Amino acid sequence: MLVDSFGRTIDYIRISVTKNCNFRCKYCMPNTPDEIAEDLIPLDKMLEFIKIAIDYGVKKIRITGGEPLLRKDLSSFVKSIYDYKNDIEIALTTNGYFLKRYAKELKDSGLKRINVSLDSLKKEKIILISKKDALDCILEGLHEAKKVNLKIKLNMVPLKGINDDEIVPMLEFANKEGFLLRYIEYMENSFASDKIKGLKSFEILENIQKKYNYTMIKKEVFGPAKLYKIDNTNNVFGIIAPHNDEFCTSCNRIRITAEGIICPCLYFQDAIDASKAIKNNDKKAMEESLLNAIKNKPEKNKWSDGETSTRAFYHTGG
Ligand code: 5AD
Ligand code: SF4
Repeated sequence: MLVDSFGRTIDYIRISVTKNCNFRCKYCMPNTPDEIAEDLIPLDKMLEFIKIAIDYGVKKIRITGGEPLLRKDLSSFVKSIYDYKNDIEIALTTNGYFLKRYAKELKDSGLKRINVSLDSLKKEKIILISKKDALDCILEGLHEAKKVNLKIKLNMVPLKGINDDEIVPMLEFANKEGFLLRYIEYMENSFASDKIKGLKSFEILENIQKKYNYTMIKKEVFGPAKLYKIDNTNNVFGIIAPHNDEFCTSCNRIRITAEGIICPCLYFQDAIDASKAIKNNDKKAMEESLLNAIKNKPEKNKWSDGETSTRAFYHTGG
């Protein structure tokens, strides 16, 4: 088992498989060039690192990016994890653009669940936020994913004056479709557009309360959100609020980038470079890197102190 210095069991790894993306979301990478050079770890080599983590008790693996579906051999990567241990919870976070094409083969390969970023149901707002005319594509992808029985969550980052008028419509859409909507507080980072301001958890709740009464029910089992239920219905939504101190106390995860850097915390710059170990398939060195990363995991992030992260979300996979 992997236990950090604050007694937290780490049983969840997020693997970013590329920092490239076909979107340019305002809160993520609005000004990066079209193609970012990267020294990708081949996925069959990454698998060997993952096997070590699984042997140490990791139970859940989420594949992220950038946009992970830009990596062509992703389904066979999912299948190779599944073949190694078929009770691993394998999930994917995607912008949904290529989902229609890949949903079925991903499901057939052992993928269990997907999180799709969806910030608006309006074509023009999606273009404004992501610089891509993508709404129809995302909706078709969601439809296909639902058809093949992937469990689906939607991620929405509410931004003041941009999509905060859609907090309730997004909830109604998600409820109607059977998706769990989670609102994510915008996490300040130096790569984002400096003109945006995110809504905090209490502002999102105030907005919802204008139409619905709700009750907080619990923390998510497979995620960091607090869950709320709309009174007199079975409809549930979640809020991910990393500005809140208690967010980190139950953190069970580490991240690895597409280039083999292990990040013990989303915010902190401190990271362990496991690239050489992974590229050389040096099992002892991979194990050491993994254990070092766990040892170095900080107690909490710094957003609660009002700071701005200087690490790009598209490197670490959000
Ligand atoms: N703040 C909050 N959420 C973010 N995401 C990406 N960047 C940020 C940020 N700065 C979210 C996206 C996506 C997931 C990968 O992370 O909405 O759903
Ligand atoms: Fe791409 Fe996701 Fe970043 Fe948007 S948030 S630019 S979809 S990596």
